[in-house]
Parts: sequence; C-alpha cells; structure tokens
Amino acid sequence: MPPVEATAHGKSAIDRVRIAELIDREQAKLADRTPTSRQRYERGVKVMPGGVPSSFQENDPWPVYLERGEGARVWDVDGHEYVDFHNGFGVMCIGHANPTVGAAVKARIDMGTHFAAPTDGSIAVAEELADRFGLPQWRFTNAGTESTMDAVHLARGATGRDVILKIEGSYHGHHDAVMVSVYPDLEDLGDRDDPRSVPYGAGYPLALTELTRAVPFNDAEALASVLGKLEGQVAGLIMEPAMMNINIIPPVDGYLERVRELTREHGVMLIFDEVKTGATIARGGATARFGVQPDLVTLAKATCGGYPGGAVGMTDELAEQISEGRVHQYGTFNGNPLVMAAAEATLTQVLTEDAYRTLESSNSWLLSACDDIIERYELPCYSEGLGAKGCVIFAAEPIREYRDYLTKVDGELSTLAWLYHMNNGVFMTPGVEEEWTLSIAHTEADLQRFVDALEAFARDVTSS
Ligand SMILES: Cc1ncc(COP(=O)(O)O)c(C=O)c1O
Repeated sequence: MPPVEATAHGKSAIDRVRIAELIDREQAKLADRTPTSRQRYERGVKVMPGGVPSSFQENDPWPVYLERGEGARVWDVDGHEYVDFHNGFGVMCIGHANPTVGAAVKARIDMGTHFAAPTDGSIAVAEELADRFGLPQWRFTNAGTESTMDAVHLARGATGRDVILKIEGSYHGHHDAVMVSVYPDLEDLGDRDDPRSVPYGAGYPLALTELTRAVPFNDAEALASVLGKLEGQVAGLIMEPAMMNINIIPPVDGYLERVRELTREHGVMLIFDEVKTGATIARGGATARFGVQPDLVTLAKATCGGYPGGAVGMTDELAEQISEGRVHQYGTFNGNPLVMAAAEATLTQVLTEDAYRTLESSNSWLLSACDDIIERYELPCYSEGLGAKGCVIFAAEPIREYRDYLTKVDGELSTLAWLYHMNNGVFMTPGVEEEWTLSIAHTEADLQRFVDALEAFARDVTSS
C-alpha cells in the first residue's frame, strides 16, 4: 500500500508511531471491505486515467465505487451502506433521488430534453436567482468552471484590463486564469504582499499564469498593497467569501466589507465564487449571509439539484457587455430544459427558507456533538460550520488563511479520521481539505453515525 499522502503536518502531543500504525490498520480494513471496488478500478484504469472520470475522484489504492443513493444514504458496489456526508462534493443538499426534483425532471423528459432555444425554465430560474442574490441579470453554464471562466471574461471585457487577482489556496475550476496558486508549496509562495504566481500543474502557458496574482485570505492590507502596486491593471478579484477548499475558513469581521471598498476604489470587479456556498449556506448564499454585494456571483453544484449546471449573476452594466456583443457568453447546453427543470424544483420547492433553517439546525447539532468529543478526548482540533457545511479541522488553533493551512493542519490525523469514517459507514471525501455537506434528508440518527465514528477515532488515537 502506498504511504499516506499528508498535504500538511502540524505539531501535536499525539503519538505519531501509533497514528502510523492505525493508518496502516484502517487502510487494510478499507481495502478488505472493498474488493468489488478494486475490480471496478482494475477495469476502469484501462480506459480512464486513474480509473476515474475526474481526478478529484481518485484515491489510493483505489476509489470506492458507488452504485446508488436514496435520501441521506449511498451504497457502494460491495453492498455497504453509508450515510453520505460527501454528498457529491456538496451538491446533494436535496438528498439523493429526491422525489420532487425527480418528478419535475421526469415531466420534462416527456416534453423533449434539449432544443438550444430558450424555454420557460431558464426565465423562472433566473428570476429566482435574481431574488436570492440581489443581482439582476443571469446567464447559465454547465459547471462551476464555466461560471468562473465567464465571470473572468466579463471582468476583463468590462474593464479593458488583463490581471486577475485570486486568493492563495483557492480553487475556482480548471481553466487557465484560475489554475494559479491553488495548492502551492510554502517555499513557492513568495512574500505576503507580493506572492508569486504558481501554476497548478502542467498545460497552462506561463504568459497566462503570470496574469493571475494571488493574495492571502483575511488580509485586506495585503490586498490594498497589491492593488496599489498594480494600479490600473487589475480587472477583477475572484474569491470565495468563505474559503471552502481548504476545510472551511470564514471571513474575519470587516474583511469582506473592506474588500468591497478597495475593489470599488480601484475600479476592480468583485467576483464572489459561490459555487460551493451559493445554494448551501443561506437562500442568498454568502452574499446574503455576509451582506456584502459583489459585481458578479458564480454558481454551480447544489444550485441545480444534482444535474450538471451552473450560472453567473451580474449587474445591469456587466450584462450590457453580453447583450451588446462585446463579451461572448456561449454554450450549446446552457439553460438545458432538463437542468432548468431540476434547478427550478430544487430552488423553489425543496431548498426553501424552511429547508435552510433545517440544514442550519442539523449542522449546529452535529458541530456541537463534535465539539463535545473534541473536548472530552482533548483532541488537537476544532469544528467549523456554515449552513449545510461543516468540518473538524485538525489544527490546534483556528486557521485564517492558506499559509496557516499549510503549517498548522495535521494531514495524518485528517487522513486517519477519513479512514474511520469510511470503515464505520460514513461516506466522506478523501483528502485533507474537504468538508461535509448535509442534506434535508439527514436525520439525527444519521448525524449520530458521524459522531460515533469520530468517537471511535478519538478513543483509539488517545489511548496508550
Ligand atoms: C469554489 C469552486 N469554484 C469552482 C469550482 C469548479 O466547479 P466544477 O467542478 O463544477 O467545474 C469548484 C469545484 O469544486 C469550487 O469548489
């Protein structure tokens, strides 16, 4: 079995030898439990790199292949049932096989599934999103990557400038402008107020990489300094208002307000990438929750209830860039009737204000149950949550930005916790950086299963 990849190591009083033994034991257990996944992997790897359709689905020694899902549960190809906290990378807030969304999609199937001509569904969804996010104009896409790509084009087209700012350690999809300083090594980062542009993998021309600069999260002064140095060159700042790809890092008080002021002062378009937060942490996403209005909002994931769609919201002025033909926003499948039927049912019938209240209270219950275990076993970690999303962060003190994530998060403990989840019927994303996403189908008994797995982990790592 290959060694566990730890993206980061923190220092704690935990016995490292014991952790290594437990990781070996739990990895062997997971491998023994999933022989059919292994067979699928051996078949899949002959025709797909890593045996998976997207590299984010890879895992050592093989991924767990799933067969079906219903409500808060999923079943793997070996017949194991799990409570799903992965939820399709934060998409399935409505629960698997949701009957309301299923009925809307089935009705649409019988009326034809694709025309590449506008249908009523796209108008209804755009109206709903305008109401939720306070931005008047919307266009549709097929994924988060397309949403952030279109937002970058709009910022550049409207300002006539080329440079894009992003936040260190943030992921915004896999197009050239944002595959920069995603998960760079500490030694490659450079100074706080003059960070280097580090390409995330091969295939991105250096000339394009250099047009994107990264700044640290939760540091308005570093942003002010970079904006001062690049005066007149920056088209847009793209950011998650709460970071959700290095666990969860909420904005500190006043940070987003100051970012809004600075971007206005410098004529820079502010893009809130709400692909993760948009339909999960409040009816109007982070924009409503934190009360700061950006120029552009990008959506995907939970917005379309498990169907492949996204959206980009914009001001009237930015919309003119498109309607007057200066910025081109295209896509054969944009506003696809099937996806729109799913999105309309999701947003207007399932993820209502009441549903957000339910998600919030389920999450508070789970977070405080985790806190209780952390306290009782004196674990070097803490919990963080917003709306449907939460995590236990294996760092002894709260992290505020990517540089903290690299230096303070304990990769081995995070990996071991994941193995305990998977071996105890809790389906979670592999890796150190993700969080759980709850659905409206999760019951208290479902949440208890997560707590029990965490407690089994806590007992074993702290017993000598
Ligand atoms: C914040 C954020 N933006 C954009 C994307 C890209 O979305 P997609 O995978 O749908 O292209 C992701 C994907 O995880 C994301 O987390």
